[in-house]
Amino acid sequence: MKKLCTVFLLLVAAGSLVFAGGGGQKSSGGSQQAALIGIAMPETHVQRWQKDGASLKRFVEARGYRAEVAFGDADQNRQNTQIQNFLTNGAKVLIVGCVNDGVAAAITDAAQDKVAVIAYDRIIPQSADYDYYITFNNFKVGQFQGQGIETALDLKAGSADAPKSITLFAGSPTDGNAAFFYDGAMSVLNPYIKSGVLQVVGPYPETSKDTANFQRIATENWQAPVAKTRMENLLNNDAASVVLDAVLAPNDTLARAIIEACLADAKYTAKLPVVTGQDAEADSTLSIKNGQQYMTVFKDTTKLAEAAVLLAEQIITGQTINIPGATLASGDLASIGNTGKKTVKAYLLEPILVTKDNWQVPVQAGFYTAEEEARLK
Ligand code: BGC
Repeated sequence: MKKLCTVFLLLVAAGSLVFAGGGGQKSSGGSQQAALIGIAMPETHVQRWQKDGASLKRFVEARGYRAEVAFGDADQNRQNTQIQNFLTNGAKVLIVGCVNDGVAAAITDAAQDKVAVIAYDRIIPQSADYDYYITFNNFKVGQFQGQGIETALDLKAGSADAPKSITLFAGSPTDGNAAFFYDGAMSVLNPYIKSGVLQVVGPYPETSKDTANFQRIATENWQAPVAKTRMENLLNNDAASVVLDAVLAPNDTLARAIIEACLADAKYTAKLPVVTGQDAEADSTLSIKNGQQYMTVFKDTTKLAEAAVLLAEQIITGQTINIPGATLASGDLASIGNTGKKTVKAYLLEPILVTKDNWQVPVQAGFYTAEEEARLK
């Protein structure tokens, strides 16, 4: 009986494998060739994208499709060539985390080839040639950063007689997410700045729409050395005569660069300013655990990758789109899907605020590699 059950289970498993490979196409010779999904990631200098690329490939292959992964090295021309290669190789769907709006031409080519495109994490701006975007609630990511500073500096109990000082950094001006992060953070911080409880050292764009000042605090292509140099300049100039209480840093890569600059300044070797971040990169989670970086935002990109691949499969097989764990942006959030040329369907996953109190959350979610987990022990 036990044997029979085992055989039955094996048959069911085999059946579900065949089913999982449902996207495979019959070639003219009758042999089965799985559909190709092209995965274009923007860069590797921010650790998360390497993880995203690996997770996407794993989920694509687990569903019985073929995967090709390419990293654009923060160079849109390079990424466009990679996308052209996916098209030449016959990709059925592209999952694209773009570098900047220069990607639109390649997306038009994909549309002409009837290849569906999913904007992954970053919107593909200035394009009407795709229908789906999957990301996190990026305004909320910024709100968490603002709330982190609000809590750490106890701004609710603050007074204009003893103001706290902060300096502001934003992400890449060519990445639409950077504006959402910034505006989310400032929605929490602006009231304290207006009441004098918080004082800004250096440029102060009230929102990302103040493009002139936003450019001054932005970090081209999210490059850590750019943020480090800007922080060093601030420490030697605008912030030379104050002790900074906080630095709004838009992600972990830049947070660590900012912390490095602060640690080289005698004023901050004993006590760092409160520095925010996002991505829960292992190095930053370790820094939080050790009391240096104050907070990060955990965006479970393993779940994002899994959801993106499910979306790709539903597109390939013509199923109704249904992504468990993601919310279709509507109401106030619908603008997240506005490319500037049309509003695409935006599926949002929820971020989680992480501080020293709950740094284990991403570990428990199985977010890290064994090597990263060992470092966090
Ligand atoms: C992503 C962040 C990432 C940043 C730099 C943004 O578009 O949402 O997670 O830190 O790009 O790569």
